Amino acid sequence: MAAVYLDHNATTPLDPRVLEVMLPWMSGGPGNPSSVHSFGQRAREAVDGARDAVARSLGGVPPEWVFTASGTEANNAVLLGLAHHWQARAKDLPGHLVISAVEHPSILRAADRLEASGFRVTRIAPDSDGAVDGERVAEALEDATFLVCLMLANNEVGSIQPVGRVAELCRERGIPVLCDAVQAVGKIPVSVRELGVDYLTLGAHKFYGPLGAAALWVRGGAAFESYLVGGGQERRRRAGTENVPAVVGLGKALELAVAELDERAAAMSAMRDRFEAGLGALGDVSIHARGTARLPNTSNIAFHGVAADSLMIRLDLEGFAVSAGSACSSGKPEPSATLTAMGIDPSTALSSLRVSFGTTNSLAETDRFLEVLERQLAAVRSHTRAAAGI
Ligand SMILES: Cc1ncc(COP(=O)(O)O)c(C=O)c1O
Repeated sequence: MAAVYLDHNATTPLDPRVLEVMLPWMSGGPGNPSSVHSFGQRAREAVDGARDAVARSLGGVPPEWVFTASGTEANNAVLLGLAHHWQARAKDLPGHLVISAVEHPSILRAADRLEASGFRVTRIAPDSDGAVDGERVAEALEDATFLVCLMLANNEVGSIQPVGRVAELCRERGIPVLCDAVQAVGKIPVSVRELGVDYLTLGAHKFYGPLGAAALWVRGGAAFESYLVGGGQERRRRAGTENVPAVVGLGKALELAVAELDERAAAMSAMRDRFEAGLGALGDVSIHARGTARLPNTSNIAFHGVAADSLMIRLDLEGFAVSAGSACSSGKPEPSATLTAMGIDPSTALSSLRVSFGTTNSLAETDRFLEVLERQLAAVRSHTRAAAGI
């Protein structure tokens, strides 16, 4: 039987309709969008066509959208660029950054780096469901706060954050907000204007587009300093020749994601809900972030007393790909930073698996997965009992 992919928050398969529009740009003639000749102009039209599609899909005007090579690059560009901008202006006054403690590592690690070079960072912990309280973010604002980062949806547990409210509170203080919408785009409605933020990031490979293509929205008039310097591409906001096939793919994937959003979300939540309803029969399990608004496709479950990495490997051998969520440095699994920030103890965090459904999954696969999960869970539990001599 074909393997079943249940790790769509890590990356999604490329939609064949997206591949179709990319192929001519991979196998066709050369074209650097910055070249003045006809080859270059064709490539320029393709890149600008994708930019128009992004603005039609998520709001803003096309020139406000900047293409980058990854969500990580887009997030880094805003944090590190604005930090540099602050330093150049405020001179001796150390800048202050407010982030949620459940941001993606592309924001957490960039903040760590800034802290190590003299910036101050306030990390706002979420509640036990992984939801951040917008008022607590507002309380942390200072005159020296140069940026607030709040993701729209968490990659591990799927909790949806009050970005609109935080943007409103920050606007009253004139403080810009970066919204990492990498996990949200394609799963819930996203509009840059409705959110009221200043910067927003997304990545094509989370919504059935290609790897290596992402975008950053910079509200007209918002401060911005290019992180990559070199050529004058992307209106001098991101040096480097545009990846034409990937950018074209991003535009097409986003158009499809927005046009099909309702039906995709309904199908994913039907599978997720069926899966979670079936978990009741599996003994000592609990579902993280269940008490808050969540992405329709994401389920993060603690199988108490069971090592999630062993369970994940057993499931993989049975043809089901899910994520254990723990970081594995130095050969020893470390509890997920998101679950830890939610106040979840290390042993529960290390027994947690993330299942993320996608458009290519079916209810029949969900049922088969539950059967295999039940069998493998029983096997790991009996193995654990035998090892403990119980
Ligand atoms: C919430 C979030 N932000 C940023 C990223 C980074 O995106 P990329 O893989 O394109 O660097 C990810 C990827 O998993 C993510 O889930």
